[in-house]
Amino acid sequence: MPRKIAVTSALPYANGPIHIGHLVEYLQTDIWVRFQKTCGNQCLYFCADDTHGTPVMISARKAGISPEELIGRMHAEHKADFDNFGIEFDNYYSTHSEENRCFSELIFNRLNSGGSIVTRDVEQTYCEKCRMSLPDRYVRGTCPRCKAENQYGDSCEVCSATYRPTELINPYCSTCGEAPTSQTSKHYFFKLADFEGKLRALIAGGYTQQSVANKLDEWFQTGLKDWDISRDGPYFGFKIPGEENKFFYVWLDAPIGYMASAKNYCDRHGLSFDEVWNGADWELYHFIGKDIMYFHSLFFPAMLMGSGYRPAKKLFVHGFLTVNGEKMSKSRGTFIKASTYGKHLNPEYLRYYYASKLTDGIGDIDLGIDDFTGKVNSDLVGKYANLASRSGPMLRRKLDGRIGRLDEQGAELIGKLSAAKDAIMQDYEELKYASAVRTISALADEANRYVEQNQPWAMIKEDAEKTRAVLTAVINAVRILTIYLKPILPAYAAKVEKFLNVGELKFADVETVLEDHEINEFERLFERIDRKQVDTMIEESKETAEGQAEQSAGEQSAAEFKPECTIDDFAKIDLRIAKVAEAEAVEGADKLLSLKLDVGGVRRSVLAGIAKAYKPEELVGKTVVFLANLKPRKMKFGTSEGMILAAGQGGKDIFMLTADDGARPGDEIH
Ligand code: 2FM
Ligand code: ZN
Repeated sequence: MPRKIAVTSALPYANGPIHIGHLVEYLQTDIWVRFQKTCGNQCLYFCADDTHGTPVMISARKAGISPEELIGRMHAEHKADFDNFGIEFDNYYSTHSEENRCFSELIFNRLNSGGSIVTRDVEQTYCEKCRMSLPDRYVRGTCPRCKAENQYGDSCEVCSATYRPTELINPYCSTCGEAPTSQTSKHYFFKLADFEGKLRALIAGGYTQQSVANKLDEWFQTGLKDWDISRDGPYFGFKIPGEENKFFYVWLDAPIGYMASAKNYCDRHGLSFDEVWNGADWELYHFIGKDIMYFHSLFFPAMLMGSGYRPAKKLFVHGFLTVNGEKMSKSRGTFIKASTYGKHLNPEYLRYYYASKLTDGIGDIDLGIDDFTGKVNSDLVGKYANLASRSGPMLRRKLDGRIGRLDEQGAELIGKLSAAKDAIMQDYEELKYASAVRTISALADEANRYVEQNQPWAMIKEDAEKTRAVLTAVINAVRILTIYLKPILPAYAAKVEKFLNVGELKFADVETVLEDHEINEFERLFERIDRKQVDTMIEESKETAEGQAEQSAGEQSAAEFKPECTIDDFAKIDLRIAKVAEAEAVEGADKLLSLKLDVGGVRRSVLAGIAKAYKPEELVGKTVVFLANLKPRKMKFGTSEGMILAAGQGGKDIFMLTADDGARPGDEIH
């Protein structure tokens, strides 16, 4: 009997783009879902954008649009990124939906009537100017412990102290810079401790990996605290029933968004939501990162159990992504957006690379750039694509495109390959993808050795039918390896299915062989990665990060002030008038222009990220404001000896600061 399985991945926030760190989880989940489908199981994959909360509200305000419009745009962007990476949701929905409102209210009302919701007065930070209560991260000030300036309202990044925003010295609102006041307000709390027994039983029953269970044990020992589930308006979210200006905290309705996405899918496909979510013959699994374990192993299952729903069968927790052994970094260019990656490299490379690293543990996985290019070139190109390209074209050109029957040696090879099926399936099922990839790549080595031994390119000159038998074995090896790789490399698998002239391959097909069959024209499967492509992607991510830095700098008067600087700090800056003497495009960098500036007779070369806003020829002869004493910076495309000043949001909206006619190149600006 095929299994019936529902799967979710954590819902990405609607206030930012998908990046390669997010992709660890969506790819891990997608591979598992595709594996289940390739086994013939019914498997539904649900996700959505996580749309509510203060950051979305503030971003929308800054952009001068409604939160609904902002989340609409982000939804389209996220979906395009997921599609490009082959992440195939059965439903990609939104937490800002009627289904989600209904479930959120229903669950809240049931918890409330069960006595698990209480209200209490809370002292909260309020900004009179912005007319809103401020989340901890929106209050800044001096750390009460180490006195470091400009720290967040909940913790200090310098000494790691945690505190309440009211304890900050000289607090200010990070949106407008005003000193906040303090205000008392009624908040709703969920009594998590009411569920301690049930939660302990759930964890003991294998709800999480053991390493997660150990962490949970620490939390149980510290004691489960009441959870504040309300926020005062203005807030982008769902109103609490019976309240005028109080809303559910975003983390209450976010996981309920899994249910909303499932419900929306079921309604459109004639399925019963209660069956899928709660029915005995359906299994439900959540995939999440280790940063949100508390919500998914305590709050959410408790909310479900307190409102008549069943928690998932299992929570799969993964670690974070590091790049070259370090945290992803905007300045190093390793904070790579999915869309930037997609412009330069084949998404299947990353699918394969992540799979080759993923285990069932919660340790971090590292994307080593050299290792990545090496593995793609050696495995995808050198092993899998190579095997197909050594058999398909010769069969088409010399043997009428027909495979024949396996001989004894060929049958032996295919026997070895198919014998690995159960172990590979078990690895996929248990999320041990790295192990599955090791096995598959060793089998590909075996098949390539078989080709070396038989040398079909020489054999064809002597014995066509013997060569056909050899190539029949190679084609069967390609077929089996493709089945094994299909959850990881769906686009590659689709090309191979077309070239082999077969239907959609499933794991069960490993048990049969393909004989006396005509294949189609061979299509190239993978291209080698050239290191330059990777370098350009990283360079572009640096520019993007700078673009973002410029952008937030541009927005800072409206959004977030940096700490005060003194007149002495300001005096360090050497601002000059400069004349643009030459300007040209930079090959391989679509945002950069290379400028030669005349600064009072001195020549300076500057790389400026303004190519989307200005054509080179428009710039020649302009007098611009130039930061002359910025430390020169080596970039891939040359060294930039300073910076020209501009305003605007970035992209096309960059406006260079130009000087009055009276100003002469080299003039200082005071
Ligand atoms: O941490 C995050 O990115 C959250 N947006 C995840 C929400 S998962 C679920 F609970 F909705
Ligand atoms: Zn404010």
